[in-house]
Amino acid sequence: MVINVPSLANISLLEMESKVQQLVEGGVRCFHVDIMDGHYVPNLCFPPSFVRDLKKKYPHCMVEVHLMAENPMSYFSLLGEYGADCISFHLGTTPFTVRALTMLGELEIKAGVVLNPSQPVEMLEPFAHLLDYVVFMSVEPGYAGQRFLPGAMERLAELSDFRRRHRLCFQILVDGGVSYEVADQCIRNGADMLVTGIYMIFDQPDGIVEACKRFEEAFGGVRQNV
Ligand code: DX5
Ligand code: ZN
Repeated sequence: MVINVPSLANISLLEMESKVQQLVEGGVRCFHVDIMDGHYVPNLCFPPSFVRDLKKKYPHCMVEVHLMAENPMSYFSLLGEYGADCISFHLGTTPFTVRALTMLGELEIKAGVVLNPSQPVEMLEPFAHLLDYVVFMSVEPGYAGQRFLPGAMERLAELSDFRRRHRLCFQILVDGGVSYEVADQCIRNGADMLVTGIYMIFDQPDGIVEACKRFEEAFGGVRQNV
């Protein structure tokens, strides 16, 4: 079963309420929320309080926070208070990765790190046993609507090979430019969850609800073979 995790960064703020409602009607149970600080990436996205608003209205849905920010630990307590279920932070945004992952565990938040296109998979080695999940970037972080990068599929295969070789069980969430053209192959290469955006869910002629159902029909019952 592959999980559809739509990226809310693809929704205009003016349409947020109705579009999130349509996602839920389409069966979505996990939202991908991009938080950017304008320093680590040259852009801003959602404030932490958006997590609180989502959890208040949809307590049965999970919120997975993708933190594109310097000093990620300074956000954890607040995001925990607001009900974040999962938080991932970028490798290199703190010199204390182990401490950060441990802190998330203590807050009972699922802990993930984000691997950029230029970061080798082996960087995960010292703390891989502490990971609940890895966000695998298939674009450079910072903007929605980019194209899946050439070479990303090979790197994804390396990541799932790393997981297999080390007998680890972290989940893999692929983020950036995921379309129907690449989704199948992502799953074959070990993706457990896909961040869906403009190419699969938003901007579809038959609307968000139908697009979510199409995802479930295509991948809801698929088992990865890694
Ligand atoms: C990029 C973000 C993504 C993005 C995904 O920095 O991390 O989550 O919003 O949406 P698409 O695939 O449409 O770019
Ligand atoms: Zn993201």
